[in-house]
Amino acid sequence: MIKDIIKKLKPSATLLINEQSKALEAKGKKIYKFGFGQSPFPVPTDVVEELKRNAHQNKYLPMQGLFELRDSVSKYLTKNKKNKYEADNIMIGPGTKELMLLLQIAFEGDILLPIPSWVSYFPQALIGRNKIHWLNTKKENNWFPSAEEIERTVIKNKMKKYILFLNSPNNPSGNICKNLNEICDVIKKYNIIVLSDEIYSELAFESNCKFISDICPEKTIISTGLSKWCGAGGWRLGFFAFPDELKEIKSSLKILASESFSSVSAPIQFATISAYSNDHSKYIDSTKNILKSVGLFVYNTLKSNNVLINKPDGGFYLMPEFINNKFKTSSEMCNKILNDTGVAMLPGSEFGFSEEKMLARLSFTDFDGSEFLNNTVGCKNIDEKLLIKFAPNMVDGVNKLKKWSENL
Ligand SMILES: Cc1ncc(COP(=O)(O)O)c(C=O)c1O
Repeated sequence: MIKDIIKKLKPSATLLINEQSKALEAKGKKIYKFGFGQSPFPVPTDVVEELKRNAHQNKYLPMQGLFELRDSVSKYLTKNKKNKYEADNIMIGPGTKELMLLLQIAFEGDILLPIPSWVSYFPQALIGRNKIHWLNTKKENNWFPSAEEIERTVIKNKMKKYILFLNSPNNPSGNICKNLNEICDVIKKYNIIVLSDEIYSELAFESNCKFISDICPEKTIISTGLSKWCGAGGWRLGFFAFPDELKEIKSSLKILASESFSSVSAPIQFATISAYSNDHSKYIDSTKNILKSVGLFVYNTLKSNNVLINKPDGGFYLMPEFINNKFKTSSEMCNKILNDTGVAMLPGSEFGFSEEKMLARLSFTDFDGSEFLNNTVGCKNIDEKLLIKFAPNMVDGVNKLKKWSENL
């Protein structure tokens, strides 16, 4: 009685690793939660206050989202992007994940997914019954596909429509996409649409970081929201910004929204106006400073001849490769690491890599973000002493992992 396509889906690896971690914790083992991808920081207080002030908002809001919110997002984007996105080009959803699912349902064509890709793109493409083409990448190219790799895939059927998913800064690699110009050339040449998943864009460590939406806005849907920079994953608010050239897609998503979630929770939408119109640069800089310091500590501690990693460029992940012949699959390796050290990570196979590639995603957010933030506001240099004080699980867990890797 269940559709074959749905039977193909399996429970997400994050849930499994959490269950396993809980079972070990129940037996008294100390677990380092490096498998979970959630912002450790609190929502800025002015935004929380706005939510309190708007608890009484009880009406259904427009399917595309509250005008005042779309307007504040539009002004925010206009400040940061060259392309102009009017309020009518913005679509508000209950998290970007839901909007991406609606996109997969509406779109008739094939999906181009770099290896690695965020865990939900692939199952959502299956649900949308879209054919998936995996694109190989290299560590040396920051784990993003080259234009050549994209061209090699689409040239096989130039008549097809394609959406390329590009996520920078990336989950799981923590890297940003640098070969934007060549990607832009190839997407223009073959009329490819890009879903630019910029959910970690505010957390790019270097300033003036560029995205594909800056280079090739007319072909790009921007996908972002509150979940990562604002520490508000549980609030469930994300948005798509469409260029005029792709507004037809927006119209279809609007209809799908009206037949599914109707509109995002009213108090959350009212509160989010302040998230995009007030100045949160101090909050963002402080959280970024912490993430960068923790990320660099993990990178510098772990990297060795046995552990290859790229330096993280943003967000809160990095992706070590453990050079060994001991394990058949990355899941087997992650299980062994969890049992031996208590460090929970997700295997690379969850992100599209072949099982024998010994990669894992390490999320460096196992610390109390409120405490760390309150004690380091305005602090430029977060040294190891502060890390030991405010991120002791990160320091202990990474040192355990390092020791484990020395015996590979
Ligand atoms: C790369 C990436 N894209 C999208 C999402 C979904 O975010 P949202 O909370 O907006 O649904 C996540 C959340 O983990 C993510 O890591």
